[in-house]
Amino acid sequence: MTTMIEVKGVEKQFTLHNQGGASFDVLKGNDLSVTAGECVVLHGQSGAGKSTLLKALYANYKVNNGSISLRDGEELVDITTALPRRIIALRERTLGYVSQFLRVIPRVPTLQVVMQPLLDLGEEEAVCEAKAKELLSRLNVPQRLWTLAPSTFSGGEQQRVNIARGFIVDYPILLLDEPTASLDAANRRVVVELIDEAKQRGAAIVGIFHDEDVREAVADRLVDLRAL
Ligand SMILES: Nc1ncnc2c1ncn2[C@@H]1O[C@H](COP(=O)(O)OP(=O)(O)OP(=O)(O)O)[C@@H](O)[C@H]1O
Ligand SMILES: [Mg+2]
Repeated sequence: MTTMIEVKGVEKQFTLHNQGGASFDVLKGNDLSVTAGECVVLHGQSGAGKSTLLKALYANYKVNNGSISLRDGEELVDITTALPRRIIALRERTLGYVSQFLRVIPRVPTLQVVMQPLLDLGEEEAVCEAKAKELLSRLNVPQRLWTLAPSTFSGGEQQRVNIARGFIVDYPILLLDEPTASLDAANRRVVVELIDEAKQRGAAIVGIFHDEDVREAVADRLVDLRAL
């Protein structure tokens, strides 16, 4: 089986510069390996470092030690040492990330927000639009909202726009930080289907899910993070 993610001995320490420079460990020597088609769910109490590890996998947080290798075609890229332009290229084609909240771009209509990552890859506009519409329909985002900017949407509506945007590109690696937190049971089931489809096309997924029903439906393996 093809290894898509290989984390070795990752350490992350936060220093609070505005509080006398106090520092504390959040990750200490964590390892993680994920193969194509596998969904690993990060588990552990609030504050254990689940989101921190996910952000490190997206190269949003720089780690203090260890390596994080992500597969990009034939190549394994260590994102702890890669150049910024390599990270940007990885995020375009290889690495998807759905955060818990949508970062709303003012005045950009929903359909455009969802289409953009696929448009950026040079895909034809009609193809992008069709795929965006299909995802928004599946996620029960009412059609009357598609031409509006999501800034006034409800939490659950924004989250579904966020999920549609995260799934519009068939990323080989997908990181999901509580994408179902503000969704009802019917929409949680849609997300479970999207995750299943991604696994079937060979995506490696690392996710955080507080809902037990989602966790049980998608997890091939649970990885426990312990608070330090
Ligand atoms: N940018 C930051 N600066 C300082 N401390 C941080 C930062 N990000 C996270 N932390 C701290 O690191 C610890 C782990 O946070 P993290 O968000 O990874 O937890 P989590 O496991 O995702 O928790 P939850 O289940 O509540 O989302 C917490 O104590 C948090 O306060
Ligand atoms: Mg978190």
